[in-house]
Amino acid sequence: IEIVLAIDIGGTYTKIGLVEKNGTIRGKRVFSTGSKHSFQGFVLNLEDEVALLCAELKNKIKIVAIGIGAPNANWITGKMEHPPNFKWGDFVPISETISSLFKLPVVIANDANAAAVGEQTYGMAKEMKHFVVLTLGTGLGSGIVVDGKLVTGANGMAGELGHVSVDPEGRSCNCGLKGCLETYASVTGIKRTVFELLAELKEDSFLRGISYDSMTGEIISEQALMGDVIALKAFEITGKILGSKIADTVAHLDPEAFILKGGLSKAGDILLEPVVRNMEKNLFAAYKGKVKIYLSPTDSSNAILGSAALFWQGRM
Ligand code: BGC
Ligand code: NA
Ligand code: ZN
Repeated sequence: IEIVLAIDIGGTYTKIGLVEKNGTIRGKRVFSTGSKHSFQGFVLNLEDEVALLCAELKNKIKIVAIGIGAPNANWITGKMEHPPNFKWGDFVPISETISSLFKLPVVIANDANAAAVGEQTYGMAKEMKHFVVLTLGTGLGSGIVVDGKLVTGANGMAGELGHVSVDPEGRSCNCGLKGCLETYASVTGIKRTVFELLAELKEDSFLRGISYDSMTGEIISEQALMGDVIALKAFEITGKILGSKIADTVAHLDPEAFILKGGLSKAGDILLEPVVRNMEKNLFAAYKGKVKIYLSPTDSSNAILGSAALFWQGRM
């Protein structure tokens, strides 16, 4: 059977898997990306992980291509361009390096663009023509589909909503700009909100006992579900900022839906409710009540399907 080696590179974890054309996953693995270490280190880890993945297989397969979703990847140049959350350089030759390492053809796209193609091919967007995927992880990624087609832009870099400003005097972003959406609406963003609130407010909170490095999106959601005032406020602030930016995006594109994915979307209704409420509040009258916001499953299978779809959708 023909298989694609699918790779989803995240700011924190990289997911790899072997995926058939119909979306069947023959095996998968997750490992730390090491975005703060060297690109060479990542490549060595990837080589080992792929060897382990293939060793786990019982049936005979043939890998025909590699699909890669990576932050700030430009599908035209095959490079990650100025990735703010990685210390791998300004132009990371990801496509070329992985293609020559495995001696296989590579298709590459921005990770959130790949996620949009994945939702179209195997996921929630099979019947949709106009939608936006937002990945809320270490950063915030976006993949925009208009009239059934992924928007790629003049230079291959369309869909970088994570670096749209929500406040020109706001939080500093790893990209060098100020007030970028991802500094508020991402796992990293909500953590920053929590620590600001803890410093500002006197309220008792379970979150006070946790260091920045051990704080996770899961902990914040669990506490919000249990009624923790700081955690609930953090989701309210996140929802307010994200909901109003989503409303802006509606005015640009008039999409039928937004699909939220990535670590923070695991929070479920605790996130969805303030996002929907604040979107509706900020929508121009003609759009009110028309735009859906969905949460997509966030497991590793879901992430690798996007990268696999980059190759398979061309052959459907
Ligand atoms: C990058 C995007 C990426 C997103 C999620 C952002 O910081 O600019 O290209 O899609 O993080 O990984
Ligand atoms: Na994008
Ligand atoms: Zn930024």
